[in-house]
Amino acid sequence: MGWRAEDIPSQDGRIALVTGANIGLGLETVRALAQRGATVLMACRSRRKAESARMGLIKEGLNDLDLLDLDLADLNSVATAAETVKSRYGQLDLLINNAGVMAPPRQTSAQGHELQFAVNHLGHMALTTQLLPLLEAQRGARVVTVTSGVQYFGQIRWDDPNWQESYNRYGAYSQSKLANVMFALELNARLVADESSVRSLAAHPGMAQTNLQPTAVLSGGSRTEAIVYQLMQPLFQSAAMGALPQLHAATAPTASGGEHYGPGQLGGMRGAPGRCRVAGAALDPDQRQRLWTMSEALINTSAARD
Ligand SMILES: NC(=O)c1ccc[n+]([C@@H]2O[C@H](COP(=O)([O-])OP(=O)(O)OC[C@H]3O[C@@H](n4cnc5c(N)ncnc54)[C@H](OP(=O)(O)O)[C@@H]3O)[C@@H](O)[C@H]2O)c1
Repeated sequence: MGWRAEDIPSQDGRIALVTGANIGLGLETVRALAQRGATVLMACRSRRKAESARMGLIKEGLNDLDLLDLDLADLNSVATAAETVKSRYGQLDLLINNAGVMAPPRQTSAQGHELQFAVNHLGHMALTTQLLPLLEAQRGARVVTVTSGVQYFGQIRWDDPNWQESYNRYGAYSQSKLANVMFALELNARLVADESSVRSLAAHPGMAQTNLQPTAVLSGGSRTEAIVYQLMQPLFQSAAMGALPQLHAATAPTASGGEHYGPGQLGGMRGAPGRCRVAGAALDPDQRQRLWTMSEALINTSAARD
């Protein structure tokens, strides 16, 4: 039998922040960390959905849960959330960059960035860099950024990362998920170079039953897409199984900075977590640094404009 949620070491005294915590992989991550003793900050964009998810967990006997308002599509909300964590807790041991949006019709964030690049990548990068001082103060702190198997098909559109021209819903999703793993590995390289004690890892869930695909199919309005999704349904594993790679990356004593975890079976689509292949672009330090610089500029220009 592979690694399970029961294998998570005690998290007593630790504080974890999970983005997109009200449903899907985020909710499973909150449940597993709270069951092992962590205090978990459920960072969500909808207070109503967050409260309802928290009430469900409280009914299961999990009480050490707090809510944090966070809309990753607005960098001002990201900054406010980071400030709230600093002033309310002054401590952070685990940051799980989990929230995500897949394949909507072209939309933009509050700062005008393509929505998937903004929510999945830029918002998480801004959140992480603003929370790093808190993580630095803790022993063994980790950042886990959730990517996807589509990273292998992704490309960074260096000249048009916001897809102002010829928007492709899945192309933009793949770009954002490639950016996730590039960010995770580049962050780790920078932390190591700075002799920081914090470590950054990446994880992907394979294919898991959550709201992600149904929402994407609905927003696409394509019959073919709906049929393909129906045909693939039997391959999907539970959300609890899908959350294991990110939980393993966040808590397993054997996991180290710069590693990437995913399900170990069926070409990385299902099964217990294990180390897995990283997209070529994320192994290339030049491309990683280029993405970092470009993303920093997009985040900072937005901040200057607001
Ligand atoms: N499920 C899979 O098969 C699969 C495969 C590969 C990768 N992933 C990745 O796994 C992660 C979790 O996805 P999931 O499958 O659990 O999907 P999900 O059930 O749709 O959950 C996504 C979460 O992200 C939140 N979110 C969306 N936009 C946000 C924003 N602007 N600000 C803050 N939170 C926002 C959602 O909030 P609302 O509920 O308010 O919308 C929800 O809590 C994502 O990064 C996704 O790319 C999933």
